[in-house]
Amino acid sequence: MEVLIASEDIQRRVCEIGKRIASDHPVGIPLLVGVLRGCVIFMADLMKNIPIPHEIDFISVSSYELSSQSSGKPRLVKDLGCDIKGRDVIIVEDIVDTGHTLEFMRQTFLERGPRSLKVAALLDKRPRRLRPVPIDYVGFEIPDRFVVGYGLDYAERFRHLPYVAALSPEELDAEPAARTVGAT
Ligand code: PRP
Repeated sequence: MEVLIASEDIQRRVCEIGKRIASDHPVGIPLLVGVLRGCVIFMADLMKNIPIPHEIDFISVSSYELSSQSSGKPRLVKDLGCDIKGRDVIIVEDIVDTGHTLEFMRQTFLERGPRSLKVAALLDKRPRRLRPVPIDYVGFEIPDRFVVGYGLDYAERFRHLPYVAALSPEELDAEPAARTVGAT
C-alpha cells in the first residue's frame, strides 16, 4: 500500500474547497448531497469547513457492487429525502472515475429543477473518464491507480484510513478479507 495523498494535505485542500463553496454562495442555503458510502469522511470534513449555513442529504448510487470494475449502469439505491426544486445543490463525491455515476446523478437532479447544480469531488481520476462530466470543486487529480482510504474501499475495507493510498496489483489479487498493513 502506497500513500498517495497524506492526511494533512487532504485537510488543507478540504479547507480551501469549503471556503470557496462559501464564497460562491453569498445568498441562499446550499444543500450538500453526499453520495453514499464513499463520501462520508469527505462530507463530514467538508461541512466543518463551510463557514455559511448549509444543509445535507444523502443518496446511494451503486455501479461497482463488489467488483473493482464499473458496470457502467448506475442504480439509484436510496433517493433524497427532500425536494431540490429551486435549491443550490452540490453533489459531494469521493471520486469521479469513468463519470457514469456523476452523469446519472446530474441527469436525475437536473430534471427536478434545482436553481444551481455543482459538484465537489475529492479525487478526479481523469485518465479513466468515459463521460464528459463537469466538476466544480476538485480536491486532487490522481493517476489510474486503485485507491483506498478517506472513505474509499476495496471490497468494503480501508474506508477508515485518514489518507488516500494506492493498492498494488498483488494486493488487489490477494484475499480482500485478509488484514493488510494500515487496516484494522
Ligand atoms: C464509487 C464512487 C463514485 C463512483 C465513481 O462508488 O463513490 O460514486 O464509484 O465511479 P464512476 O465515475 O466510474 O461512475 P461505489 O459504487 O464504489 O460505491 P461506494 O461509494 O459505496 O464505495
